[in-house]
Amino acid sequence: MEKIFVGVSGIGSYIPDKVITNEDLTKIVDTSNDWIIERTGIKERRIVEKDVATSDIASMAAKKALEDANLKAEDLDLIIVATATPDHAFPSTACIVQKKIGADKAAAFDISAGCSGFVYALAVAEGFIKSCLYERVLVIGAECLSKIVDWQDRNTCVLFGDGAGACVLEKCEENMGILAAELGSDGSNASVLIQPAGGSRLPANDDTVKNRLHYIKMEGKEVFKFAVRVMDKATQTVIDKANLELGDIDFLIPHQANIRIIEAAAKKLNLDQSKIYVNLDRYGNMSSASIPVALKEAVDEGRIKKGDNLVLVAFGAGLTWASMIIKWNRREEDNVSY
Ligand code: ACO
Repeated sequence: MEKIFVGVSGIGSYIPDKVITNEDLTKIVDTSNDWIIERTGIKERRIVEKDVATSDIASMAAKKALEDANLKAEDLDLIIVATATPDHAFPSTACIVQKKIGADKAAAFDISAGCSGFVYALAVAEGFIKSCLYERVLVIGAECLSKIVDWQDRNTCVLFGDGAGACVLEKCEENMGILAAELGSDGSNASVLIQPAGGSRLPANDDTVKNRLHYIKMEGKEVFKFAVRVMDKATQTVIDKANLELGDIDFLIPHQANIRIIEAAAKKLNLDQSKIYVNLDRYGNMSSASIPVALKEAVDEGRIKKGDNLVLVAFGAGLTWASMIIKWNRREEDNVSY
């Protein structure tokens, strides 16, 4: 049987215009620019306007990815949106995007895997294409975290930002594209990063609103320890799965949560910082959007070339982790900005 290889044929991203600097945050919570930079590496983040929802920015990124792939929305077979901030509990944000971009023939659903969601979604999309059920799949990571951040909680509000990134996946030439993926979860730590109310466990009522339970609650230290534990392990595991060595890796795009987490993983892996993409200083943690936005920027900057072995690695709510190796299948002349 013919072996099918799946690669990225188009990328797009969308970042809102409105910038919130660390200095801006000092006016609403007891914090400082120095503390935020020293403890996280974040200098500023972008947030959407009040009337903008996740499907709006997801659709902007999607249209750019389609243009980049030279496809029309009607060509799509499936849309997967990874998000922790869907427009609604139901219908899925993917269905709303399907309508917004005019992807009339596409099936659509969402994935909930926190900040690992985009890499989870890439792995799911790859499976659909390899099984020959679908040929063209649009994968989007999009978040309006500003809508569920507690702007009175200095422990969390300094960390997050809004944004969206999208990739079109299609069959690609032999031995290129996605080489291996590793997905994992640890539900025993589900409560360390949670939006407690608004679901069937704690439906919305006066008390949940009064107690601010519709906002992100996070045990930062626990998430930090988990992240440092899994980032290098997940990277090493996926490299082994692809029968490669660490020295074969040309570029790594980690989830953009905290510079100290990225530096700790780089140190454990003994990987040069020049091979690691960082943009969290400009955007903060955009959860499932962090990796596709970083990928788009790295490609535009010419830092990823055809044939490069690229690692994506993420951790997030669940708790979850996910890593993937992509042998970059696009030619340099395809890597143009829109
Ligand atoms: N400004 C000033 N002081 C602050 C702030 C702030 N913004 N936030 C917390 N502090 C204080 C704390 O209250 C604490 O004070 P105390 O000692 O008097 O109690 C002190 O700073 C130190 O707090 P720590 O929690 O020890 O700080 P730490 O060095 O662990 O950094 C941080 C906190 C940045 C949250 C870190 O733990 C972290 O990055 N954790 C991982 C978070 C993460 O990656 N989340 C993304 C998850 S992905 C997803 O799915 C959404």
